[in-house]
Amino acid sequence: MNIIRRPRRNRQSAAIRDMVQETRLHASDFIFPVFILEGRQVRSEVSSMPGIYRYSQDLLLDEIGRCLDLGITTFDLFPNLPESKKDKYATESHNPDGLYLQTVRAIKEKYPEAMVMTDVAMDPYSSDGHDGIVENGHILNDETLEVLGRMAVAQAQAGADIVGPSDMMDGRVAYLRQALDSAGFHNVAIMSYCAKYASAFYGPFRDALDSAPKFGDKKTYQMNPANRREALIEAELDTIEGADMLMVKPALAYLDIISLLRQNSNLPIAAYNVSGEYAMIKAAAQNGWLDGERAMMESLMAIKRAGADVILTYFAKEAAALIK
Ligand code: PBG
Repeated sequence: MNIIRRPRRNRQSAAIRDMVQETRLHASDFIFPVFILEGRQVRSEVSSMPGIYRYSQDLLLDEIGRCLDLGITTFDLFPNLPESKKDKYATESHNPDGLYLQTVRAIKEKYPEAMVMTDVAMDPYSSDGHDGIVENGHILNDETLEVLGRMAVAQAQAGADIVGPSDMMDGRVAYLRQALDSAGFHNVAIMSYCAKYASAFYGPFRDALDSAPKFGDKKTYQMNPANRREALIEAELDTIEGADMLMVKPALAYLDIISLLRQNSNLPIAAYNVSGEYAMIKAAAQNGWLDGERAMMESLMAIKRAGADVILTYFAKEAAALIK
């Protein structure tokens, strides 16, 4: 046969495949989201996320040490709080002696080389389970910004390197930038949850934190999964408002959005490979329905190939171990 172009030539051996490989994963691509809870020597597995645990502070510090050894440098913290610590205004979110901020301080003290990313949203601290202040069934935007501002400044005081507003209130990136700068935290970065969709894939995360909304859903602030152009509006606003990095969330069902933002922005793009995406692969692997390791690496590779510079993923530790 006279076939001049034979793409299979570049696939014929491991050596040549490796040579022409376009995308590579490194441990430094990952941010590891971790869950903390009160107590000492406590480690409780999230039932819908096999292999993922809520740790008390002491055990979390050990876990972070192990992750640093694997080359993971950045950790995104989320607190599981008892109902008794939650209220309408998320007061606990800016309590310097509370579990969350104390843990941020402890990590930075023990591992100054580690980067800590903190979450800015009211839901883990809110008795309503929403990301903002609720009044008569409505989520108040501008009133919520004040709470978020206080939260972010308290996190910066505790030593946070990056704050991650995951709330989707309008104007919050500008508000946080201003609040951080006035408090002297010019160097604290903002990774905005820029295109965050109202997704079914957050279910296991809400189990992990017991943070599901007490009524309704999050559709008046998180984006409609049907929308693509709207992601560009969010990206434009967050950029003007001062975001240092833009995030797309979830990742796997939104690869087109990752690619879209990559092509339309010069900022680093992050993607959040969320709890439900983790749970699906784990569940199928446990059933013997697919090869969990390969599905994990293929998914992470796809997220990077789509254009993500940074991947927040519960697979961080497992993938980093495999890469090593
Ligand atoms: C809430 C928040 C959520 C996640 C991160 N921050 C859930 C939600 O919006 O209800 C989800 C992460 C995941 O599913 O892994 N501020």
